[in-house]
Amino acid sequence: MNIDEQDLHYQSGFGNEFSSEAVPGSLPVGQNSPQRVAHGLYAELFSGTAFTMPRHESRRTWMYRIRPSAAHPTFKPLKSPIPQAGLAPANPNRMRWDSLDIPVSPTDFIDGLRVMVANSSLDRPSGITIYHYLANRSMERAFYNADGEMLVVPQLGGLLITTELGRLEVKPLEIAVIPRGLKFKVELLEQFARGYIAENHGAPLRLPDLGPIGSNGLANPRDFFTPNAWFEQRQAPTRLVQKFQGSFWEAELDHSPFDVVAWHGNNVPYKYDLRNFNTIGSISFDHPDPSIFTVLTSPTSVAGLANLDFVIFPPRWLVAENTFRPPWFHRNLMNEYMGLIEGEYDAKADGFTAGGSSLHSCMSAHGPDALTSERAMAADLEPQKLDGTMAFMFETSQVLRPTEFALANPALQSNYDACWDGIASNFESK
Ligand SMILES: [Fe+2]
Repeated sequence: MNIDEQDLHYQSGFGNEFSSEAVPGSLPVGQNSPQRVAHGLYAELFSGTAFTMPRHESRRTWMYRIRPSAAHPTFKPLKSPIPQAGLAPANPNRMRWDSLDIPVSPTDFIDGLRVMVANSSLDRPSGITIYHYLANRSMERAFYNADGEMLVVPQLGGLLITTELGRLEVKPLEIAVIPRGLKFKVELLEQFARGYIAENHGAPLRLPDLGPIGSNGLANPRDFFTPNAWFEQRQAPTRLVQKFQGSFWEAELDHSPFDVVAWHGNNVPYKYDLRNFNTIGSISFDHPDPSIFTVLTSPTSVAGLANLDFVIFPPRWLVAENTFRPPWFHRNLMNEYMGLIEGEYDAKADGFTAGGSSLHSCMSAHGPDALTSERAMAADLEPQKLDGTMAFMFETSQVLRPTEFALANPALQSNYDACWDGIASNFESK
């Protein structure tokens, strides 16, 4: 589909008190819920955090809409569109998957959700669920996710995401975040769409603190974009699907749910272009922990322990002297699920392909493969530019369990461990 770029309007910033009105004079002035809202609209509060959260962590948006969301009939169970979403027992092995094939049969964004790994009890506000999505047609229904915020990472094909608060165009190398509970639909800008989703059941994603880096660097707030209000006044049957505690439910509305004429608040969808990330690294020797590449983080109540870190490995210069430059061999407390949007990842000579993924669980040993390691130790350490690459990591403090689907899928590589075969013993005691 083609959309008129002129038709998309954004506000820049992160965590701001944004406001927008598609019809002038729709936003109340000086109060949130007047007795009668201008233009005959209804006021509705959309809360993303508990009312009593500290002010700097509070997320809420006031919507002014043609019909309140409460105007819906009973939701009825919908057969799960997700095949084999059940989790398998925890498994300490390192795993790697090729990219998943896009189905031939008609598949929209909801049909095409594939759960790969998860660590959540959905009745508790923590943990994440990681999906790949595969689609070959636009949604003709609306959706909301009562279970978590969704971080969408397109790998193939652009998306037009229409939300209650406005529309976002998101292409590979960009990401979108959709708040828990916000209604949206996904239309394809090209024939196919494929990508990754981290469903965050914990605290909403935020920018990481910068500490000694100072007041600039990594992802800068002004590079995040939230849409302006956009609405349709359409009186026609519209299916609304919700995910609640992992199950899908459906109700048929007699009108479009995208009928918010004006809104203000900070519980909003947003997008970010990963190419705007200000990458910081070593200009002397060694390289910092990959946390230096954190774009967004969902903290837990333990300081520094993330429920979800979204980390990228973008194009960058490698200049460190006398240094083993690829990501070092390591064993971590955290659990790492990696994906590749384009190009090659510098820790692997081959086998980690665009659209593919890997899982390295708590304390599982990993690092560069044998060939990459040999080359790194022999390399002439001239300044080197890594270009045309964008890998990323969803990192989480709780162990991720693979789904039966992920373990049974032919995309699971049977010989991943073999990439560390042949690492030589070079030790000499004299
Ligand atoms: Fe790692």
